[in-house]
Amino acid sequence: MAALGCARLRWALLGTRVAGRGLCPLGARAKAAIPAALPADQAAVAPGAGPEDQRPLRNWEELPRIGELRFFFQLFAQGYVLRLHDLQMRNKAKYGPMWLSNSGPRLLVNLASAPLLEQVMRQDDKYPTRDSMELWKAHRDYQSLAYGPFTTEGHQWHQLRHALNQRMLKPAEAALYTDALNEVIDDFITRLNQIRAESASGDQVSDMAHLFYHFALEAICYILFEKRIGCLETSIPEDTVNFIRSVGLMFQNSVYATFLPKWTRPLLPFWKRYLDGWDTIFFFGKKLIDEKFKEVEAQLQTAGPDGVQISGYLHFLLTSGQLSPREALGSLPELLLAGVDTTSNTLAWALYHLSKNPEIQEALHKEVMDVTGPGKVPQHKDFTHMPLLKAAIKETLRLYPVVPTNSRIITDKEVKIDGYVFPKNTQFVFCHYVVSRDPTTFPDPESFRPHRWLRKNKAGVPGVQHPFGSVPFGYGVRSCLGRRIAELEMQLLLVRLMQHYRVVLAPETGELKPVGRIVLVPSKKEPGTEEHGKDHLQKANGQVWKCHGLQDSCLRTGNRDLDGMN
Ligand code: HEM
Repeated sequence: MAALGCARLRWALLGTRVAGRGLCPLGARAKAAIPAALPADQAAVAPGAGPEDQRPLRNWEELPRIGELRFFFQLFAQGYVLRLHDLQMRNKAKYGPMWLSNSGPRLLVNLASAPLLEQVMRQDDKYPTRDSMELWKAHRDYQSLAYGPFTTEGHQWHQLRHALNQRMLKPAEAALYTDALNEVIDDFITRLNQIRAESASGDQVSDMAHLFYHFALEAICYILFEKRIGCLETSIPEDTVNFIRSVGLMFQNSVYATFLPKWTRPLLPFWKRYLDGWDTIFFFGKKLIDEKFKEVEAQLQTAGPDGVQISGYLHFLLTSGQLSPREALGSLPELLLAGVDTTSNTLAWALYHLSKNPEIQEALHKEVMDVTGPGKVPQHKDFTHMPLLKAAIKETLRLYPVVPTNSRIITDKEVKIDGYVFPKNTQFVFCHYVVSRDPTTFPDPESFRPHRWLRKNKAGVPGVQHPFGSVPFGYGVRSCLGRRIAELEMQLLLVRLMQHYRVVLAPETGELKPVGRIVLVPSKKEPGTEEHGKDHLQKANGQVWKCHGLQDSCLRTGNRDLDGMN
């Protein structure tokens, strides 16, 4: 198990030397991950974008509208506050793929079909605006902190994103973190085996999602700050425990802070808890950045004419002069947050479905073993030969897009969607959860069917879906910054799990349902907190997973079939 403290990265991103801060030229221009468009003959004709453009324009005010009071009733009286995705499903069934609603004074245009998403995404601004992020900005303003990638807008965002993209966005850059991730995965496996050994049956993990959360936090901290923080230790350091608790606190309370009017903030406990959560998150980030900054300064002072050798992400950002420590403090906690719940929940869902579909798990196990054998630690290049692995992750993200709802405000022009012309500054809400379960795009949409993503299908089975049918990482220049890291992290971990274990869901677990905690999570108790949301969160608490060790001999003798699928 890796020691805590200032362990330097084994996987150093070597090669770049700088003479000192501020002297390095800016890196290559950022390139966003954009889903390939279909060839013209296959592309779905987006309403309003093809021949339909000829029809008379329609007045958008005629679209079905949900009033604010009704929306509040649905959220709080009908209990949809943590299940907005279900409410959107219901709304689509009732109103069709486009309807209006209000969030305070702002009018929202909700979109729930792939062609509609495509039309807005393809007309996005040069500097896209997601939404006003008022809640996050309120905390930064209150503490005079710099804005990060989620909170900055316009040209400033573009500059910040340009700096942050480097050593992060391209697959080849992300691949440089393979050894670091494998080091964390070694510790994850050690911890997993400890937990199994301590269980009554000797093979049980009582909350796999919780363990994934700790893994994802450890992994992203190691990548961003080049520090191990002890999440996978038997006894987790207090700072780390506080940090984990605060993330839970901030997310939970932000759901209420979003929907309750501002005047309730001094009266109800949510707002204070929300701000306190952020404070601890930033305190944690600041400590790590200060340590790194001191380390870099010491190196600069003692460096020879060749300057210092750059190791990891934060080191690069600080030494290349692209971010001041203040800017780094504004940005890195946002990256950190973005990188934990997202990957950990996706891993939990993936494992859940692999457990429920033993034949798919078996096929994946075979694919993995064919490429790596039982003992080889996987490398980035191995994944080229693992199409089912990639398909399983895609399918998981289709069923549970961790960001179930996203949005864009088109600020610089009127936008024509499906024959309606919307004025500048209209906010469009992308109902990703609804879109990626649309039966017209994905037949049998509620089923976990990774094979739908494989191109080598038998004749007659479509292998290509609408390119905007499932876009879990977003689209365009403002799409996910950490996509390649997330994919690598999930692939590396799933391969190791498939190499060594058969994963079975304990029968008492029952069905897991998604709930929205900003991101979509399996219903369970929040990691690191004693607080619960509604009843349905509590009821499904305590999911139990069994990870059966896969000895070579088990495989060869067929014992895998006998070792307790119960
Ligand atoms: C399964 C894993 C993940 C998923 C599904 C995911 C998804 C998303 C989505 C949907 C967005 C919004 C994109 C848009 O508005 O078009 C986003 C933004 C972002 N993500 Fe991720 N994400 C994941 C993991 C990560 C990780 C590991 C990191 C950290 C390294 C990260 C960092 C960010 C950042 C910084 C943004 C804001 C980008 C900007 O506004 O410029 N994400 N992500």
